[in-house]
Amino acid sequence: MQHFLDITQLSTDEVFHLLKRAAFFKHATYPLQYRMEYAKFSTINLFYEHSTRTRLSFELAAKKLGMSVLQFDLDQSSLSKGETIEDTMNTLVAMGVDVFVIRHRDDYLPQHLASLCEHAHVINAGDGQHAHPSQALLDLMTILEHKNDLGALKITIVGDVKHSRVANSLQQLFALMGVGELVFVAPDIWWPCDIQFGKATTSLQEGLSKADVVICLRVQKERLTNADHLDLDDYCSHFQVTNACLKQWAKKDAIVMHPGPINRGVEIDDALADGAQSCILQQVHNGVFMRMAIFESLLHA
Ligand code: CP
Repeated sequence: MQHFLDITQLSTDEVFHLLKRAAFFKHATYPLQYRMEYAKFSTINLFYEHSTRTRLSFELAAKKLGMSVLQFDLDQSSLSKGETIEDTMNTLVAMGVDVFVIRHRDDYLPQHLASLCEHAHVINAGDGQHAHPSQALLDLMTILEHKNDLGALKITIVGDVKHSRVANSLQQLFALMGVGELVFVAPDIWWPCDIQFGKATTSLQEGLSKADVVICLRVQKERLTNADHLDLDDYCSHFQVTNACLKQWAKKDAIVMHPGPINRGVEIDDALADGAQSCILQQVHNGVFMRMAIFESLLHA
């Protein structure tokens, strides 16, 4: 694999391999020699959108492998002098950077930049509303740490599915890996544009009923008040996932996930986010190891 851009590029075998390698990095101690083999590689995070989890876990993953990590501060870069992103990237390729981890507000921008690369590698760290493939993989890793039969699971995704790159990548990954049932819960104006797998409902009760895994998505508050004319209180009363409604409708051993950042008291209540069924920080933890596996699959060190 030269680039890591989208779930659609992966086979089931490749997903299982990434899961296996992420588990290896999480649980095994690996020799110093391993880190020395990666010392010849460098990476840079080109983040044109804000991020905490993705940016820092790719950085930590690279450092754990022993790679050099270059810092790129957008405000201090020559972007402010009018340099294009293509010229920035070609400049960094000329310096010998091996892996570009790219987040951008435009759909398919990482794909475009990857098409310009002859030897360097591009990782999609989230492009517009299109895809967030590393998030989907770390979410699957987290689910499999709690549930072993994907074919028997009901997974429910609640929130602004239409504008969510995480939901798009999860839909593709769950279809590929044979998840039993996938349900999207949202106001109908936020239903996915393209449902290839799963179904959508406006009923939180229907979505949560007997669910094994509940994934809450961040509500982008500006959408509630502007483009989509939804009322925040109305949204919360119909779609907020609370500890009480999880206990009432979902399976007793259901797990609750959120890619972050969380809007507490909007899409999820504090009791659930911080409760025993929450796997939110486990997702963050697993992100480091899944991203190590992604680097490894590109570099074959
Ligand atoms: N989940 C996720 O992409 O979070 P960040 O925006 O903080 O990277």
